[in-house]
Amino acid sequence: MKIAIIGTGYVGLVSGACFAEFGHEVTCIDKDAEKIARLQRGEIPIYEPGLDQLVHKNISAGRLIFTTEFNPGIPEAQVIFIAVGTPASRRGDGYADLTYVHDAARQLASHLQGYTVIVNKSTVPVGTARQVARIVSEVNPGADFDVASNPEFLREGAAIRDFMHPDRVVIGVDSERAQEVLKAIYRPLYLIETPFVITGIETSELIKYAANAFLATKISFINELANICEEIGADVQDVARGIGLDGRIGKKFLHAGPGYGGSCFPKDTHALLRIAQENGVACRIVESVVEVNSAQKARMARKIRKAVGGNEGGKTIAVLGLAFKPETDDLRDAPALTIISTLLEHGAIIRAHDPQAMKEAARVLDGVTFCSNPYEACEGADAVVLMTEWNEYRALDLKRIKEVMKRPVFVDLRNVYMPRMMAENGFDYYSVGRAAVTGR
Ligand code: UDX
Repeated sequence: MKIAIIGTGYVGLVSGACFAEFGHEVTCIDKDAEKIARLQRGEIPIYEPGLDQLVHKNISAGRLIFTTEFNPGIPEAQVIFIAVGTPASRRGDGYADLTYVHDAARQLASHLQGYTVIVNKSTVPVGTARQVARIVSEVNPGADFDVASNPEFLREGAAIRDFMHPDRVVIGVDSERAQEVLKAIYRPLYLIETPFVITGIETSELIKYAANAFLATKISFINELANICEEIGADVQDVARGIGLDGRIGKKFLHAGPGYGGSCFPKDTHALLRIAQENGVACRIVESVVEVNSAQKARMARKIRKAVGGNEGGKTIAVLGLAFKPETDDLRDAPALTIISTLLEHGAIIRAHDPQAMKEAARVLDGVTFCSNPYEACEGADAVVLMTEWNEYRALDLKRIKEVMKRPVFVDLRNVYMPRMMAENGFDYYSVGRAAVTGR
């Protein structure tokens, strides 16, 4: 089938490459000419494991085209995905900024030819698909089309796998014809028995927010339990395992840490609160989830302060990991940004390392020394903070770290190491939801 995707950001690019891999003919459109030129040369603007091979392969096979032009990609397409950005509105009021979605709808409308399904893949507030339909009909009253919602559940760092082996595909439609077209483009997933949730458009739009808010809830829940554990001498890892093995609860997303970040959870929890508020409905659980997450980041800064003796002024703190999670260079709403800013405000000297995110970090963080490896970051440090659980931090040469540090203080915000082993290696070791241990 012929597919057009508007927006070559994270979701658009991954979806485009994967649909091409399914055998469809995909045209990816973006107004950023420089980005398109780079993509045409096979240069991938984001770091996502496996994506570059997939893009190269499908460009060579002639199934994947990058362009700034709507013609001929849009008129030829049977399905058009809108995958443009929906940033949080600059007013800071929890609304998603839909300017780009509306612009895309307006621009594509005049190019439509024959029956077309227009699908929102960006995460958008409930009601957006209907707005897109209204805009398209206004611009092109004769157009033969349906709108649909097909939310994305890709995790950064595992996006290709998530696309190729999803837990489910959610499709929101209100026409049989559109349903058949969308099922057809996902046909390869039928072979691996992927469940399809076919529902109304508003329901599908809400599912995306509900899924992300629920996952965020699990994280905030376990983070609060971690705080209780620290006070009563319990171990949150064991609590998570003890509850997670109950199939009704599930073991995933129960890993205590410095709070969730990224491009989805913070934005989507706020957007869900907004939807509830606008409709006069309370959503107190999600309100608390958001509050608990900010409190957790503040608590982590206090934990580090305590580890360096109660005052971080003039102390050198090594930070390992800046991205909001491993296998990405994404810093959006990363806990590292808030925690480092707090430490800097209190006069700490920060030396940081991240395998992928330092270029981006240099743009958004002032006054941080970026180091080429974790050992260099630890030189002369009063404490090292493990902020993101990159694989390369899971088996650090602890002897070497201890040798280069001024004081052997290790703050592990991802519970990567075992307390006893750290004490045996001579570290004062602080983690999340487990008792602190001393190596002296
Ligand atoms: C998320 C959703 O998982 C995905 O379905 C959605 O479409 C987009 O948002 P992503 O933001 O890429 O994906 O990252 P994810 O792996 O879900 O992690 C989100 C944040 O939660 C990270 O900051 C991570 O460190 C944190 N987290 C996750 C925890 O603190 N504990 C956990 O147990 C799991």
